[in-house]
Amino acid sequence: MLYEEIVDALKEIFQTRNDLFVLSGSGTCAMEAAIGNLLRKDTPVVCIANGKFGDRLVEIGNRYSDNVTAVSFEWGTPIDLEEVEEAIEEKQPQVVTMVHNETSTGMLNPAQVVGTLAHKHNALLVLDCITSIGGYDVPVDSWGVDIAIVGSQKCLGAPPGLSAISVSERAWELMLDNGDSRVRIPYYMDLLAYRESFNKRQTPYTPALPLFFALHEALEVIREEGMTKRVERHRQLADTIRNAATTMGLTLFPVLDEVSEYSNTVTAINVPPGLDDALLRARMRERGIMIAGGQGKLKGKIIRIATMGNITEDEVSRTILALEDALRGRIDKGE
Ligand SMILES: Cc1ncc(COP(=O)(O)O)c(C=O)c1O
Repeated sequence: MLYEEIVDALKEIFQTRNDLFVLSGSGTCAMEAAIGNLLRKDTPVVCIANGKFGDRLVEIGNRYSDNVTAVSFEWGTPIDLEEVEEAIEEKQPQVVTMVHNETSTGMLNPAQVVGTLAHKHNALLVLDCITSIGGYDVPVDSWGVDIAIVGSQKCLGAPPGLSAISVSERAWELMLDNGDSRVRIPYYMDLLAYRESFNKRQTPYTPALPLFFALHEALEVIREEGMTKRVERHRQLADTIRNAATTMGLTLFPVLDEVSEYSNTVTAINVPPGLDDALLRARMRERGIMIAGGQGKLKGKIIRIATMGNITEDEVSRTILALEDALRGRIDKGE
């Protein structure tokens, strides 16, 4: 059965025995499903943020609870674990949120450590794994991730439009404790409705069926490659890009400490002063290579090269050549 096969394959990739559902909506839909189902008006929450998607979790949190504490760090800088623990001790949150792979800055946050920290203080961990699961080894259960989410179009290599969410027993308990106040949770992303329908191996509302077929196929591609090889391919391709960029005299955007890492699914590179990143990207596009610019306050400041999904060595080589050529092409703002 299509849905059941998808769920089973995703559970294997998530390395979880928790319930897992596929939602007909992009990654943000699963972010809102997680927050909207867990939080009530007074639920204390600590949202760790060091990039655009960490900030998005704060924004969604503020829609559902009046008791959200954002522990924010400069975009592209590591999270300070001491500061996080202090906030957790002070606020006694029921839920902690964080982005695993912060796509806006090209940085991997220390999920396992934060999972341990959250559990030590009896909080649940909601982890946005939208651009990590499928490209990284993310053992959801052994890291203690109560709600993990992924998007179809990122490292899973399927078309956009679907997301998946895993829910631990502890997360269900919190949702059920909140029982009577169900009026405030999102109707379309009601996870208890998803759980009930799953007994019949169905979704509660009409699924985006063509996308389910595509996801099924993408998961088959992952199975054929094997997660070990897939993770290693992501690591190697990102490593190649990082080395090429620094050899070209470019610098990488994230500032690391001992617990954070450069992302293996997206590499963020500083735009050298005087260069127009839009022109640089346009030059690359002429050669059939699409890379991303910075988002929000990083617009014009960084470029981002993705290695997520089914990207090949050849595609990475062509991207590097196109970047070299585009840089050589005197892409000066002033000239
Ligand atoms: C880390 C992260 N979280 C959330 C999102 C939002 O996902 P979507 O655009 O699929 O709604 C993205 C999208 O790039 C992301 O990279």
